[in-house]
Parts: sequence; structure tokens; C-alpha cells
Amino acid sequence: MKYTNEELREKIDELKAKLSVTVVAHFYQRDEVFEIGDITGDSLELAMKTKADDADFVLFCGVGFMGESVKVLSPEKRVVMPKIACCSMARMIDSLYFDDSVKFLNDNGIASENILPITYINSNAEVKAKVGEMGGMVCTSSNAKKIITKALGEGKKILFIPDRCLGQNIANQMGLESMVIGLDKRDPKECDIICYDGFCSVHQLFTLDDIEFYRKKYPGILIATHPECDPAICDASDFVGSTSQLINYIKELPKEQKVAVGTEFNLVNRLRSENTYVLSSTKPECPTMNETTLEDVYLTLKAIDDGEPVNEIFIDEKTAKWAKVALERMLDL
Ligand code: 13P
Ligand code: SF4
Repeated sequence: MKYTNEELREKIDELKAKLSVTVVAHFYQRDEVFEIGDITGDSLELAMKTKADDADFVLFCGVGFMGESVKVLSPEKRVVMPKIACCSMARMIDSLYFDDSVKFLNDNGIASENILPITYINSNAEVKAKVGEMGGMVCTSSNAKKIITKALGEGKKILFIPDRCLGQNIANQMGLESMVIGLDKRDPKECDIICYDGFCSVHQLFTLDDIEFYRKKYPGILIATHPECDPAICDASDFVGSTSQLINYIKELPKEQKVAVGTEFNLVNRLRSENTYVLSSTKPECPTMNETTLEDVYLTLKAIDDGEPVNEIFIDEKTAKWAKVALERMLDL
């Protein structure tokens, strides 16, 4: 039987009142899912706030690597996901590709002890574990600059995975030399940051034509973008920031200031006042973030109530140990 959203919300509220479950939702979730979140935020906020929460179950509405990060940081919690949706960028790297990237640097005269790997949080636990075991750490788009500043202090070459755009954007902001494995012919020994060739398919949708279109149509408009966008887009923007930084930036603008925002559709649509625009003619929706529906949330809660939780996240001990090291090095900063 199909329920309306209103009926589903009632059923969800009843189950939430009965069970020891915290519903966690990322900013990119559909509005109706985001609205029932007990904890909402960007990936860093979700990892930190959920760690401090004491419910037995975490029902995580987001993508797989985010649910895994919660499980790694709080192994005593039972983490279930209405959909184990996988971020396309996180899927671009696994532990074998990570080893290949290290080998590329070794073959170019950089010994493993002189490499410090940093992984964007958008990677699976197995990759985070590899990074942790090699002395590296995790970063998010809100703290990448801080993490890279700390890493540079160790005097090593930074292997930045998997997002080439975030790696290059931070390098540009900090005046560092960077290259992308397989794309640039540069000598990695001459670079501070060597990036893996991964990217976010959603944030690649924004183009210089979109920026030109808005600037011509609304002279004085501001362009605000996420650092997962191509470096050419970020260079042409008035502001570049993580999800939370974008939200704060837009909140602080005078009401009459027009702004076009280059990031995921659900988030921008929720922020939208009459002077906030989506910086694209193509709807920039994250397909995997959008997979989770209100009905999935209800069915996942019902499965917990029935004593047969579904889509539970399990991570083997060794992977969890080293992934936790990589995540905690970030949180300690
Ligand atoms: P945040 O770290 O800003 O939540 O972003 C995660 C993400 O997947 C952005 O595309
Ligand atoms: Fe991954 Fe991009 Fe979706 Fe973020 S928007 S979850 S990086 S595919």
C-alpha cells in the first residue's frame, strides 16, 4: 500500500518516539527527508554531532562514505542507511588505485616515507584506512586548507585523493604548485600537492558560460561556488566555500544582493529567496543523495522495530582501526 508523505511523517514520528534512533540527514537530501532529521548538516558536522549522540541506532540519510564515517568514529552505534547510495566521486578510488598512485610517485623518485596522503572525506573506509596506515589524514571541504597547512609542516609531498578539483583549488588559494596524475606532464618532484584524478559529476555541471550568463543578465550579481567545481569556475567566482560556508555567506548578504550559487540543487533551492539563483541551466541534483525517500526512512525504522534491521554498516576491525586514525587526526585539529 502506498502512503502519502503526510501519513509517512506520522508513522515515522510514532516509530521515532518508540525507538532509540537518531535520524541524521545531509543538506543535499530531498526536502521531505531533510525535514525529519534530528541532526542535519554538512559531512563534518554530521560526523561530529553524531559522535556526541547517545541513541542505539543511527539512521543515516546520505551517501555510503558518510554512514561509514559515523560507524568508524562510533563503533558501538548501530548505523543503518535507508539506501546505501554511493557518492560517484568516492567510487573513483579504491585501495588498488591508491597503491598505483603511491607507485607513480615512487617511480618518479619520491620515496613512500616522503609522501603524506590526505583523503577528502568522500572516500570509502578502505581508502581512509590506507591513508591512516601511511601516516595521513582525512579532510573535508571546510577544513582542507587547515589540514594541508599542517601537512606541509611535515616537509613531505602531499598525495591528495580523490578530488582533483578540491586539491587544485586549495593549492591555488595557498599559492602552492600542484599537478594531477595522468592529466599533467609535470614532474611531481616540483609540486607540493599531487592530486588523484577524481571529481564530482554534479559539481562539474557549472560552466564559465553560466557565470557569464548571470553576470550579463544581472550586473553586480555575486557568484558563490563549492571547491568541488573546476578550478576555472572557482577562479572566476566571488566566493568559494564548503556547504556550511556557502550557507553562512548567503545568509549574511543584504536581502537585495543577487547571488548565483554553484552547488547541489536541493541545498540551493532550500536557501532560495527571490535573489538567490542556481548557477546552471541543468538541474545540479546529486542522483545518489536523491535516492533516499521518506518511504525508505519509514521502512528502515519499521525494520528496526521488527527486530530485523536492514542495510546495517559493518566494517572489519583492521579497516575500522586505521580509518579511525585518519579521521581522528583531522578531528584533533
Ligand atoms: P560537505 O562536506 O560540504 O558536506 O560536502 C560533501 C559533498 O559530498 C559535497 O558534494
Ligand atoms: Fe558525491 Fe558529488 Fe554527490 Fe557530493 S554531490 S555526494 S561529491 S556525487
